[in-house]
Amino acid sequence: KAQYEFPTEFEFGVATASYQIEGAWNDGGKGENIWDRMTHQRPDLIDDGSTGDHACLSYYKTDEDVGLLTDLGVDFYRFSISWSRILPNGHANQINQEGIDYYNELINRLIAARITPFVTMFHWDLPQPLQEIGGWPNPFLADIFVDYANILYKEFGDRVTDWITFNEPLVICEQGYSTAGKAPAYTQDGIGGYLCAHTLLIAHGKAYRLYYRDYFEEQKGRVGITLDSRMYMPADEESQEDLDATERAFQFVLGWYANPIFSKEEIMKSRIEAQSQEEGFLSSRLPSFTDEEIQIIRGSADFLGLNHYTSEYCTTLTGSEDVPRPSHSADIDAFRYQSPDWESSGSVWLKVYPEGLRKLLVWIKQRYNNPEIMITENGFSDRTGTLADCRRVNYFNSYLEQVLLAIHEDEVNVTRYAAWSFMDNFEWRRGYTERFGIYYVDFEDDDKPRTPKMSAFVFKNIMQTRGID
Ligand code: FCB
Repeated sequence: KAQYEFPTEFEFGVATASYQIEGAWNDGGKGENIWDRMTHQRPDLIDDGSTGDHACLSYYKTDEDVGLLTDLGVDFYRFSISWSRILPNGHANQINQEGIDYYNELINRLIAARITPFVTMFHWDLPQPLQEIGGWPNPFLADIFVDYANILYKEFGDRVTDWITFNEPLVICEQGYSTAGKAPAYTQDGIGGYLCAHTLLIAHGKAYRLYYRDYFEEQKGRVGITLDSRMYMPADEESQEDLDATERAFQFVLGWYANPIFSKEEIMKSRIEAQSQEEGFLSSRLPSFTDEEIQIIRGSADFLGLNHYTSEYCTTLTGSEDVPRPSHSADIDAFRYQSPDWESSGSVWLKVYPEGLRKLLVWIKQRYNNPEIMITENGFSDRTGTLADCRRVNYFNSYLEQVLLAIHEDEVNVTRYAAWSFMDNFEWRRGYTERFGIYYVDFEDDDKPRTPKMSAFVFKNIMQTRGID
């Protein structure tokens, strides 16, 4: 048994996202979103040609799923709201009552089971009509998002007090608008992602301010954002070049979003400005914020949600002439790689390095003045779906052990941990080929039955005993 225990106030949960589990893509008055559009029109972009049309059918299984969460004994359930289910055309003038009813039922059942609803407002499923006006690179989406957030606070805020505005802005922007890794699969590298992030940070800041202006007094909740980061480490600790490359990786991944909210550092600004000039642009490819926008964004998070799965070593980029310019990776100018010694998973990008989580928590504590951190995702994939998922069990044990060390030895203020994921689900462009769930879902069966894997029992035991066996 591990040396330390989880403090009594520390909370555990599991996480999911609307498009990945709900199904019912055109039922209950829901509008079309960018994942519906992409999976329907470009099945070639999804490894198994699948869609989230039915996924885990969670839209129809509120009762069953809350029952499983109750069996598991979680303190909270992190799920996301489908924007198109609430506002079928994306805009606040047309509210879909059936969508509101669905989330009300879920929230009420959770509360009756003494499980705290932890709600993500946006986990990648942008209403298609909003993409048609350009998606996140269009600055007007900031106010359109705030209208959506306003409806969520108004409809659910009497019972939901824990809000996350955005899940992984890095992935939304970089992959959505620069490298085509996610919907809407644009390839405006070095430009699209920066425009997206600009809108998104303003949207986040304004949604946060709206809460404190109109809702906080009555609802007494908190609003944060979820950022994703790997731990970045120098290939050679003695090499100044590698240390610099590591710093750039951090600044252009986590810092891109964390700096404007949690600090005053502006490292990306000068680098991209200089680079843009060299490329012949008159102004920087990275748009800058007005003073008013800076005031809105700075300090606009009550906690930092952190999604963490894996780590990377950094060194100087060799053969940088091969990297297309302009591009975000050329702006980072660091070669990142994983150790061949780390255990692999069912995902090419995910290799197991538990110590990375503790190091990252300490890095965040030091750089961002000890914010409250909630781990909103951490987990392991396989391609078999085996119920005897020993490797997933080892992953959770070893990563949670590092969380214990960060809490007890480094005094990092981490207060929550969510396992990704509650159940196997539609893993974006990987379709159903990669499974992250602690519950197995049989996607061949029209009823999508769930079965607990060994990791579900182990996770339950960790929550009950407050320690790792
Ligand atoms: C994260 C996403 C989540 C899931 C995991 C594996 O980047 O937030 O939806 O796909 O990766």
